[in-house]
Amino acid sequence: MFPVRISVFFGVAFALAAGIAQAKFEGDVAAGKAKAGACAACHGVDGNGGADPSWPKLAGQIPEYLVKQLADFKSGKRTDPLMSGMAAPLSEKDMKDLAAYYAAQKIKPGAAANKELAEKGERIYRGGNAKTGVSACMSCHGPSGHGIPPRFPRVTGQTASYTEKQLLAFKSSKRSNDDEMMTRIAFRMSEAEIKAVSEYMAGLH
Ligand code: HEC
Ligand code: HEC
Repeated sequence: MFPVRISVFFGVAFALAAGIAQAKFEGDVAAGKAKAGACAACHGVDGNGGADPSWPKLAGQIPEYLVKQLADFKSGKRTDPLMSGMAAPLSEKDMKDLAAYYAAQKIKPGAAANKELAEKGERIYRGGNAKTGVSACMSCHGPSGHGIPPRFPRVTGQTASYTEKQLLAFKSSKRSNDDEMMTRIAFRMSEAEIKAVSEYMAGLH
């Protein structure tokens, strides 16, 4: 249990420290809605995702996290053939308005399709893997996956295929805009563990 304890402490301490310095999030929901037209084809009008399950839901996400991702796509710290070009023309104000709009939308809960796999995933989500040094996910993303503002994103209700794609990208460092928090963890996970935890998280809420 020792590594798990450490990471619980880490997540909470980090959230507290960030909370002290955190200003109220400023973004204009109505302006964001008007700017979100270009995003609806892939993320849905209300941010609940599009036709392809590997396109993420943005509804109910922590707004600071959304702004950070848009800024990272724009600067090239995070890359994606569909998203990089969409973020390129956005100003800082656009990013804040869009983030305020999506954060204000309700996420539609998902469900795990495979119960047995989800049970394996639940053990990792709640307890990590002490043998391989994988921290418990809930220490930073919260027991029901709603995240801890401003830095730790909500991870519930996303499709298993989006979550799995991100974890594999962190594992291979293809996605490395995380200040080494996720890349270190995912590096230690097997592909089977990634599949299981992604299945569990799809139905977590
Ligand atoms: C052509 C499809 C497409 C369009 C249009 C699009 N996106 Fe995306 N977006 C994606 C894909 C695909 C990803 C996931 C990339 C990955 O796998 O890393 C993504 C990821 C994101 C993320 C990161 C989500 C997370 O949980 O980390 C944000 C934020 C985002 N998009 C916002 C927007 C906004 C705002 C717009 C409109 C200005 C937009 N997107 C338009 C396809 C699109
Ligand atoms: C030490 C804190 C910490 C722990 C523990 C942690 N995460 Fe994360 N996670 C983060 C941070 C920070 C980010 C956001 C990175 C960024 O800014 O792009 C993140 C992002 C993610 C994302 C991407 C979300 C999105 O919308 O694209 C997924 C998926 C994720 N984590 C899953 C997990 C899983 C599964 C575990 C457990 C095996 C876990 N995390 C453990 C800190 C943590």
